[in-house]
Amino acid sequence: MGWLKDEVVLITGGGSGLGLALVERFIEEGALISVLQRSASKVATLKARYGEKIVVVEGDVVRYQDNLNAVNETVHRFGKLDCFIGNAGIWDHYADIVNMSGEQLDQAFDEIMGINSKAFILGAKAALNELMKSEGSIILTLSNAALYSAGGGPIYTASKHAGVGIMKELAYELAPKVRVNAVAPSGMNVNIKGAASLGQENLGLLDARDPEKIARGMPLNFLPEPEDMTGAYVLLASRQNNRPLSGVLINADCGLGIRGLRQPRAELFHY
Ligand SMILES: NC(=O)c1ccc[n+]([C@@H]2O[C@H](COP(=O)([O-])OP(=O)(O)OC[C@H]3O[C@@H](n4cnc5c(N)ncnc54)[C@H](O)[C@@H]3O)[C@@H](O)[C@H]2O)c1
Repeated sequence: MGWLKDEVVLITGGGSGLGLALVERFIEEGALISVLQRSASKVATLKARYGEKIVVVEGDVVRYQDNLNAVNETVHRFGKLDCFIGNAGIWDHYADIVNMSGEQLDQAFDEIMGINSKAFILGAKAALNELMKSEGSIILTLSNAALYSAGGGPIYTASKHAGVGIMKELAYELAPKVRVNAVAPSGMNVNIKGAASLGQENLGLLDARDPEKIARGMPLNFLPEPEDMTGAYVLLASRQNNRPLSGVLINADCGLGIRGLRQPRAELFHY
């Protein structure tokens, strides 16, 4: 504990799921936290829970000005910014090209790519001057859909693959001052919501799916809690533990990539 003592970290989408688990873990590690969050109710819950301990900014990651407000409020309160974590995201509930209308495809592409990809670049740009000063880092939350098919429909998959390119390009452009890395979690025990343009804004991943079935599909045979993912972020953000890694994606996929064409081993052997 204490790997991030006095490091100032801005987390987007920190009001629930993985973002909230990161808030908790980073506080435990000694970090000073701010959150950019779109949902007014999650903003209120965060403020009630943490009071003055963290900075909470209501805003939308697809708006550059909202990202800038979050950076400015962070620096106003804590005096600097060491790490920007682009984490806010939405899913598409496997919306596929066969069943979406052309109009839905058009609108959903703009919405999902905006939140899941464009916002990474806007957030990085807003944080840039401060991260250059602090020689800090950027961490992007991707997904198994950044590497494989069938983690969503074509739009979600494209949005997360785009994140790999953004991470690599920013790592190149911002070296040697700022390290840029990513974490690609597998499915988690989190009820991530879908796209408003597809009428899915209140529909969670776990509302429609059985967590035990998802777990059985993982070679490591468990559905991770968001807390299980936070160690990878601590490693990447920590100055003591990470001088060399930039342009790196930590593939936290519970073994999906080694599944190949065979069934998960646990099912073969009836553990
Ligand atoms: N849940 C999973 O199984 C899973 C798997 C792999 C990757 N991920 C990724 O993890 C990240 C976090 O998602 P989660 O699973 O914790 O779900 P979540 O819904 O709990 O968290 C996403 C957060 O982002 C916020 N948000 C959404 N759009 C926003 C916007 N435009 N501006 C500001 N905030 C916004 C939401 O209000 C929410 O608090 C996402 O990038 C997601 O793609 C999730």
